[in-house]
Amino acid sequence: MSPQYRHMFDRLVGFARNPVQKGAGERVRLLSQQLIHGLYVAQFAGRYTFMLPAAQRFFTPWYAPEFRDGVFARVRAHTLLREENCHLLESLVRHARHLGGDFAECGIYRGGSAWVMANALAGQHALHLFDTFTGMPATAGAATDGHTEGDFGDTSLASVQTFLADFSSVHFHPGFIPDTFEGLDNHQWAFAHIDVDIYSSALACLEYFYPRMKPGGVILLDDYGYRIYEHAEKRAVDDFFATRPEKPIVLPTGQAMILKI
Ligand SMILES: C[S@@+](CC[C@H](N)C(=O)[O-])C[C@H]1O[C@@H](n2cnc3c(N)ncnc32)[C@H](O)[C@@H]1O
Repeated sequence: MSPQYRHMFDRLVGFARNPVQKGAGERVRLLSQQLIHGLYVAQFAGRYTFMLPAAQRFFTPWYAPEFRDGVFARVRAHTLLREENCHLLESLVRHARHLGGDFAECGIYRGGSAWVMANALAGQHALHLFDTFTGMPATAGAATDGHTEGDFGDTSLASVQTFLADFSSVHFHPGFIPDTFEGLDNHQWAFAHIDVDIYSSALACLEYFYPRMKPGGVILLDDYGYRIYEHAEKRAVDDFFATRPEKPIVLPTGQAMILKI
């Protein structure tokens, strides 16, 4: 199977396995969308890709062979992120290397997006990784969260450590967020990638990281724009920034970012 079709197949299997959508009808509809998107990307995407609704060919470096067959090929079986989300993550990490703080990710699962960050940092900056490594905690389950306890449990700390074994300066913080922020009061952060999906976890991350971000520091939220997280990660971000000067910069990938003033 060619790499593009292998990737499409992996994504479909991953999507079907992870119970992100609950209703059968909704799952079938989204699976069909994934299939159509996957076929389109496998067949037509490249350095410049025809994008709807702009009806223009745009520069799409995330679909270029350099990225898809390089970084993305390495992580595709370990991440729920699409090419474009991984590419933006990599670009922002590279940018934030010059801000002089540490790097963090909350929500690791199988370590794919953490690998993208570690690779972009090349051992030059500390990268701290926070997750239960056993799946969603017991706090998941509010009707609006889109998840229940144990979702994303098909991973382990040991398997992620093995996957990231080539990188130095990676620190693992297994356990429940925010308990695992204890002892890190005096840290200064250049960049935080928050991919925890549910309301209580996203809010806990913002409460910890926001006051400790360097000026100009970047918080990237992976799930802000996804409809299923409208009352989960998005609501946490909107509640938190309602009384602060920074506002979420909404991106066409479903991500949003905050630039600390
Ligand atoms: C969507 S997955 C992360 C996906 C990952 N970034 C990737 O590359 O595919 C969400 C993760 O958040 C973790 N998580 C959510 N709330 C948490 C909490 N309060 N404490 C620790 N981990 C949490 C879950 O265990 C799960 O692994």
